[in-house]
Amino acid sequence: MNRRRFLRYLRQSPLYAMAAEMVGQSPASALEVLDFIPIAQKNIQSQHWAYLMGGSDDNATVRANEEAYSKWRIRARRHVDMTKIDLAVDLFGRRLAHPLILAPAAAHEAFHPDGESATARGAAAKKAQMILSTNASRNVRQVAKDYGGPLWFQLYSFSDFEVNRALVRNAEESGCTVLAVTVDSVGGSPRIMQARGGVKTEQRCKACHDASEQGYYKEHGNFDGIDMTRALVGGPGRAVTWAVLEKLRAATKMKIVVKGVMTAEDASAAYRAGVDGLIVSNHGGRAENSMQGTLDALPEIVEVINGRIPVIVDGGIRRGVDIFKALALGASAVGIGRPYIWGLGAYGQAGVEKVIDLLLAELRGIMGSAGTTAVRHISPLSIERRV
Ligand SMILES: Cc1cc2nc3c(=O)[nH]c(=O)nc-3n(C[C@H](O)[C@H](O)[C@H](O)COP(=O)(O)O)c2cc1C
Repeated sequence: MNRRRFLRYLRQSPLYAMAAEMVGQSPASALEVLDFIPIAQKNIQSQHWAYLMGGSDDNATVRANEEAYSKWRIRARRHVDMTKIDLAVDLFGRRLAHPLILAPAAAHEAFHPDGESATARGAAAKKAQMILSTNASRNVRQVAKDYGGPLWFQLYSFSDFEVNRALVRNAEESGCTVLAVTVDSVGGSPRIMQARGGVKTEQRCKACHDASEQGYYKEHGNFDGIDMTRALVGGPGRAVTWAVLEKLRAATKMKIVVKGVMTAEDASAAYRAGVDGLIVSNHGGRAENSMQGTLDALPEIVEVINGRIPVIVDGGIRRGVDIFKALALGASAVGIGRPYIWGLGAYGQAGVEKVIDLLLAELRGIMGSAGTTAVRHISPLSIERRV
């Protein structure tokens, strides 16, 4: 039984839940991000919890994302002066304090009444770049104020380009500097855990929500003021292809990043279409049941991109050592989804802050052990594949 399987086995036992609850009694007492799980689960309504935790089919790709990190180990190095560790990274013309990004997740009010405002304040306090979802509970103008700096905006591309144009304009006017266009999840994927949780269709539960398409737009702040009643709208576009990037390029000055690439072929196609960066992602195992972990896909994409544009990866990161491995395999930065939502669900802003603190402290620790004093010193030589 490998370490992750063993941890999962432990997590399922009632004793673990009790112990984790004790250490997680306050954000300060959490020892690892997993400590937030039982507290968040208690606070979050069960259908929303199933929506959060679920992946495609039987969650095999959620597990593949996590397990991909177990295939690598660290090459420890000694006697390097570690008094200063530099986490800064340069991305899209800006210096970020560290490489940990909060990936876009829909509808934060499903997890905490303060929604994206709490996430944004927590991210800002810990200098983490935040990407706001198209399907956020709160509007980008509001969240940009809470964040107090340039957000990145995630776009689901609609078949009706006028909707994209309006979403992009609002993001740009709110100071967003990067547009992350999500290209996965257009095929639709059965999320069985979510369905069992009582959610008949994504994010809608007839008991509490207006399950019509228009009802959905009304509950998600970024659609405020946009005419979503036109016949063409009909949800994010299934017929969208790489050609949409050209139109987006003409519509915005923001940098354009494509989120959801999993193969070298698509990385090349996106590069040819002129994107400024890529996010290797399978939507946290929710896009399709490929059983391909994002870290497994990273090397072929890094190889084909060959340093020409930044490559970011998300999916399955639960520890600082996971961040280290992704950076060693060539990622310029990493994203987390569920972990910060566990923090949000457990303690609101304070939980988000603690999740970021824990992961960065763990990252600093492993950088010290591997003799790498700056992110740019982390290289393929820092890790090796387990045999
Ligand atoms: C509850 C939830 C909602 C999400 N909503 C979005 C979204 O609106 N747009 C998007 O591009 N990705 C979305 N994602 C995917 C995340 O951006 C990210 O790719 C994924 O969570 C990373 O995997 P992790 O949860 O294992 O860290 C969502 C993920 C979760 C768990």
